[in-house]
Amino acid sequence: KRHLISAADLTRDDAVLILDTAEELARLSDRPIKKLPTLRGRTVVTLFFEDSTRTRISFEAAAKRLSADVINFSAKGSSVSKGESLKDTAQTLEAMGADAVIIRHGASGAPYRLATSGWIDAAVINAGDGTHQHPTQALLDAFTVRRRLLGPDGGLGRDLSGRRITITGDILHSRVARSNVDLLSTLGAEVTLVGPPTLFPVGAEGWPCEISYDLDAVLPKSDAVMMLRVQRERMGGAFFPTEREYARRYGLDGARMARMPAHAVVMHPGPMNRGMEITAEVADSPRCTAVEQVTAGVSVRMAVLYLLLGGAQPPAGQTPAAEP
Ligand code: CP
Repeated sequence: KRHLISAADLTRDDAVLILDTAEELARLSDRPIKKLPTLRGRTVVTLFFEDSTRTRISFEAAAKRLSADVINFSAKGSSVSKGESLKDTAQTLEAMGADAVIIRHGASGAPYRLATSGWIDAAVINAGDGTHQHPTQALLDAFTVRRRLLGPDGGLGRDLSGRRITITGDILHSRVARSNVDLLSTLGAEVTLVGPPTLFPVGAEGWPCEISYDLDAVLPKSDAVMMLRVQRERMGGAFFPTEREYARRYGLDGARMARMPAHAVVMHPGPMNRGMEITAEVADSPRCTAVEQVTAGVSVRMAVLYLLLGGAQPPAGQTPAAEP
């Protein structure tokens, strides 16, 4: 594959290869010498038209750990404000030598357009487009839950068959929910989406998952519960139910977490709205994997860059570069 646009494009074997590669890279990164020479001489551009903390920084860290040169582009403060198009912006960046373009855009489909238009030759990686997809988020979520549920070897070579994963929140606006439904179901997990009926998109009944409006009923049957933020910025001022009602019905607090099986984990892709979808007590508990997910993001994004730009096999035994 040349691009990573959607989690739905990944087969079970593609996904397991990426997760296994990320495991190998995470183990190499744990050693004192952290930098690999794999992408020396290659240039990776992060092209962000929407704000980001985790995704942009972890892609930058991942590319640098593989010895790539990194150019960070933010639409804010650029010539996009003067009306420059996506095509002209991308071609300008490729003229500076980009081998891969990691794009976040508010418009669903923008990364697909960039990958298929013929405007540029670089590999395109979707870092989140509108309400559509965020495939590396789903991969790092799968990596985290596989590690937590399948044991200390990180579940190498294995998928998530039979694991029950609940995703709760604003499904309507969530590219994380869509990507996770696609990837987790491909990996054999049983996925249940939970939220108020007003925050489900038309057509969700046809997705490869169950739908529930009752979080309390689903919690005792979950191996992992992923809490999603209500995306007020995509609602144009309207929100139903109220924040207070939402937190009462769908927020995860200590009492609700106690309804989960003892082995079950709480996940959150970030950014969190503490007090809304998750209380501080839950967010800061050892059962919450939010910080582990951020760490996993670097290894998973290294794996994606490695497989798209650098090689086709897991990097076991690769000699680290000399520089620390
Ligand atoms: N989870 C996630 O995509 O976070 P950022 O918006 O901070 O990148």
